[in-house]
Amino acid sequence: MMHANGNPNTPPEGEQSLFRKILDGTSNAVDPSDRRAVLARQLRTQTDLDDAALDRLVRRFYSLARVDPDLGPIFNAQVADWEAHFARMVDFWASVSLLAGRYHRNALEAHRALRLRPEYFERWLGLFDQALQEEVSPPAREHLLTIARRIAANLSSRLCANAP
Ligand code: HEM
Repeated sequence: MMHANGNPNTPPEGEQSLFRKILDGTSNAVDPSDRRAVLARQLRTQTDLDDAALDRLVRRFYSLARVDPDLGPIFNAQVADWEAHFARMVDFWASVSLLAGRYHRNALEAHRALRLRPEYFERWLGLFDQALQEEVSPPAREHLLTIARRIAANLSSRLCANAP
């Protein structure tokens, strides 16, 4: 799971999403089987994102998150191999934001044992936005933040339902 529709490799629904804007602007003359390729290319063009930018973003995010008083201890206790984690997160972001199709794991299950609280997701989003502002273009920031908010809400509702 990652999007509300349950598949990390298909675009999420949503009026405001860049996915929707590009698809709405794609000519009906484009063969349906080519639409995914057109979308993937347009996402890269319109955001200026690529693996190198996502790698910088991921590293900046964790440099902030690892010293956060609440989130830092969780990450530092769980992640043994940071380079492997960064590579996995670049695959994840490339897949959910650029349709790279390189992330095939279950992110929900990875968080289940962490006893996350709803306010941790707010903090996570704040730090992610700080990293976005520092590392990526304004359209990329908007695109990634829209996706991150949706996933955070999804994780929070599934993982924190019984939180006090
Ligand atoms: C409440 C804040 C969060 C905390 C404290 C947190 C913590 C963690 C930790 C400790 C791991 C490593 C698990 C492991 O390797 O054993 C992890 C993995 C991961 N996190 Fe989060 N996370 C949070 C929110 C999010 C959000 C909002 C997203 C997405 C927008 C996300 C996406 C991921 C992904 C994709 C992985 C890799 C899972 C895997 O494939 O094993 N996390 N997270």
